[in-house]
Amino acid sequence: MQTDTTPLIQLQGVSKIYGKGQAAVKALDAVDLQIHQGEFVAMMGPSGSGKSTSLNILGCLDTPGSGQYYFDGVAVGSLSRDQRAVLRRQFLGFIFQGFNLLNRTSAIENVELPLIYRKIPARHRREMAQEALCAVGLEKWQNHTPGELSGGQQQRVAIARAIVGKPRVLLADEPTGNLDSVRSIEIMEMLRTFNQRDGITIIMVTHEPDMAEFCKRQMQFQDGHIISDTAVEDTL
Ligand SMILES: Nc1ncnc2c1ncn2[C@@H]1O[C@H](COP(=O)(O)OP(=O)(O)O)[C@@H](O)[C@H]1O
Ligand SMILES: [Mg+2]
Repeated sequence: MQTDTTPLIQLQGVSKIYGKGQAAVKALDAVDLQIHQGEFVAMMGPSGSGKSTSLNILGCLDTPGSGQYYFDGVAVGSLSRDQRAVLRRQFLGFIFQGFNLLNRTSAIENVELPLIYRKIPARHRREMAQEALCAVGLEKWQNHTPGELSGGQQQRVAIARAIVGKPRVLLADEPTGNLDSVRSIEIMEMLRTFNQRDGITIIMVTHEPDMAEFCKRQMQFQDGHIISDTAVEDTL
């Protein structure tokens, strides 16, 4: 049974190799990490250092080649495919650099999508999606399609979609990578609120030191290793 000190997320000796023979690339090399409920973590490091691979494993979008992933004390590798899908839908929310919205579909329908997979009844779905769009300040834009929205607004729709199911963990891969600095800061302030007010654990990949400053902990990746892992001083 899990205790207060059980990390919400734990990788133990996780390695991942892509390709075979001469072409093999070791994306992760025996990575250990622990993240507790309520943390706000930045994953940093040069391109190709293993950040996205780590995030995808944490999000059950990819599996370790070797080593173990524990979510709330449960060995994810011992779950069936269906059980992993449940873990992903119930407990995890995703935000990507490219927003990944359905282009011909209104903002509110994009936000409702994960609830359809969870078989939540239509009326309740609509209410939950409206609430999530409100939380990102887009209540007036719910019937607009992504093409009618700015980049910053599109990312806020994607964030609403990520939080609509009330996940315990938000996983974000360069969420501000396509945005200017004003829009980036708006997104980071929003994430900070979800972390501080709602207690959502957030793990975010970013290249940008200014964005990583919003996090409480910064990890540096290099060549498939975590080479540093430090708490960020509170600047408030
Ligand atoms: N699906 C894949 N097939 C082959 N190689 C991959 C794949 N995904 C990642 N890699 C390789 O693994 C290494 C780590 O990639 P990644 O985790 O995406 O790095 P980062 O997100 O830090 O830029 C890189 O060398 C990359 O080219
Ligand atoms: Mg990446």
